[in-house]
Amino acid sequence: ELANIGVVGLAAMGASLARNLAHHGNTVAVYNRHYSRTETLINEHGDEGKFIPSKTLEEFVASLAKPRTAIIMVKAGDPTDQMINALADLMEPGDIIVDAGNAYFKDTIRREKAIRARGLHFVGCGVSGGEEGALKGPSMMPGGTEESWKTLGPILKTISAQAEGEPCVTHIGSDGAGHFVKMVHNGIEYADMQLISESYDLMRRGLGLSVDELADVFAEWNKGDLDSYLIEITAEVLRHKDAKTGKPFLDIVVDRAGMKGTGTWTVQTALSLGTPVTGIGEAVFARGLSSEADLRAEAQTKGLAGPEPEGAFSAIAADPEERAAFIEDVRQALYASKIVAYAQGFNEIEEGAKEYNWKIDLGAVARIWRGGCIIRAKFLNRISDAYDSGEQFGSLLFDPFFKAAVEGAQASWRRVVARAAEAGIPVPVFSSSLAYYDGLRSKRLPAALIQGQRDFFGAHTYGRVDEPGVFHTLWAEPGRKEIKQA
Ligand code: 6PG
Repeated sequence: ELANIGVVGLAAMGASLARNLAHHGNTVAVYNRHYSRTETLINEHGDEGKFIPSKTLEEFVASLAKPRTAIIMVKAGDPTDQMINALADLMEPGDIIVDAGNAYFKDTIRREKAIRARGLHFVGCGVSGGEEGALKGPSMMPGGTEESWKTLGPILKTISAQAEGEPCVTHIGSDGAGHFVKMVHNGIEYADMQLISESYDLMRRGLGLSVDELADVFAEWNKGDLDSYLIEITAEVLRHKDAKTGKPFLDIVVDRAGMKGTGTWTVQTALSLGTPVTGIGEAVFARGLSSEADLRAEAQTKGLAGPEPEGAFSAIAADPEERAAFIEDVRQALYASKIVAYAQGFNEIEEGAKEYNWKIDLGAVARIWRGGCIIRAKFLNRISDAYDSGEQFGSLLFDPFFKAAVEGAQASWRRVVARAAEAGIPVPVFSSSLAYYDGLRSKRLPAALIQGQRDFFGAHTYGRVDEPGVFHTLWAEPGRKEIKQA
């Protein structure tokens, strides 16, 4: 018997995907550069389904039924390029190579073009959900041709997560569309995580709640509008105690956030598309600042002036009613900021689709994010409803449901941002999201002044509110005459 699917690269993610495929009736060819990993997989999990292990890539390709379909799960960058080329050399026209790593979408566009020129299909597929997701059901975002989706779709549907009975996988669009959407998913993940962390900081340092009290707060929040995987695991992380010291786990962890680059790509891409993703941007910068170890240490020795955040809200904390009201304010601030971050992320997908000629169904993207992925959340149902409604709108913030949600949350949101500023607690995503919202709803922005300055120092011209055309004022000349340039 030949395999209907193959997996190349059997580290944690690859091995989990291979097992998931085998659990769902697929015959899975498996190959790893060092055979020991293949052996381990077969020894430990060989009885979970049908695997065909190979020692060489030639044997691996020969063990696949046509059209041969191989999923690569190796390190991003050069190792991925090398494996794609090695496979392409052994495969035949019509065969399908799938890259399921976190590749940069422009690399995927380049690779797809090169592989298509050789008559094969190349699919860049975003996979979210970590190791457990890969094993038990990830959310998957494949790009590539319609034709490759005909073969790949039914296989991926067997292993994806399910949300309300629907598989969390859809054909996102051609070439790099899948990896683009996965990139924005990760950007939103950064914003979500930072928002939760800002909430934590306000309530821990400012209000003085203990980690156990905070775990209860987040567990409670998880029952409402904020119901999501990240809120759920936050409660668990908060409750966890360090075995060595007995201290809260959070107090023994170095406060420098790592990152592997997908958040940065999301922001770089948004900058080149001209789409403001302020929430994601501030989340990436907040991780950056946290990791500036030397600068932060120097700041401690320099003693920069400012309010003392510890116990800044102790008066509020002393009154049970006020305390509960403050916690509710933080919840609302988180909800409103989260809506802004998603609105911005979906705008980036829309702009990316225009730039790269993809037809992306935003409602379908929201639907496949309801299960399996790291940002899975109940509120994605509302996002898919909004995009599926057929109404045309430029921002999720204009959709009646989200418009009303932000309206309801905004008094709290403003109080939280103001109080955080007074207490000296940084809330970059709360405050930048609010600034974006207020910028969006402003009838006139101070951008008119910027245009005046640009025209003054560089003759960069401006438009008039009362007449079409391009204008320049002769600032250096007496009388400052205005000339119409076009
Ligand atoms: C997922 C995650 C995953 C990502 C990690 C780490 O959707 O399963 O996004 O793809 O690699 O979350 O990302 P950072 O190291 O950049 O935080």
